[in-house]
Amino acid sequence: MHVFVTGGTGTIGSAVVSELLDNDHTVLALARSDRSVQVLADAGAQVLRGGLSDLDVLRSGVAQSEGVISLAFDHGDHGADALAAAIT
Ligand SMILES: NC(=O)c1ccc[n+]([C@@H]2O[C@H](COP(=O)([O-])OP(=O)(O)OC[C@H]3O[C@@H](n4cnc5c(N)ncnc54)[C@H](OP(=O)(O)O)[C@@H]3O)[C@@H](O)[C@H]2O)c1
Repeated sequence: MHVFVTGGTGTIGSAVVSELLDNDHTVLALARSDRSVQVLADAGAQVLRGGLSDLDVLRSGVAQSEGVISLAFDHGDHGADALAAAIT
């Protein structure tokens, strides 16, 4: 399955990305910085550059994927709301 993952560099997300890739899935991962792009590419994920407030980017990630795992956690933002808005 091709899975869109947000928060793929985080504590939980990095483990989820690794598990998916180790079990014959492919990952499209949201990355908001050059550092995150590098970490996710090194892990073997395809990278979609953007943040939780970039609704067009989120819509694109959802549209390209068969499943979504949202693990981004922004202490100063309402990330889950943004992703929900992108899906609907
Ligand atoms: N850690 C736990 O023990 C634990 C336990 C139960 C539930 N959870 C839940 O699991 C989820 C993930 O937690 P975590 O501990 O893995 O979080 P974390 O380690 O703080 O990681 C946060 C992730 O969100 C990304 N992120 C933050 N703001 C972003 C934004 N504006 N746009 C795009 N990406 C953004 C970060 O990307 P960057 O690398 O670019 O900063 C990072 O990949 C949360 O909902 C948390 O409540 C965690």
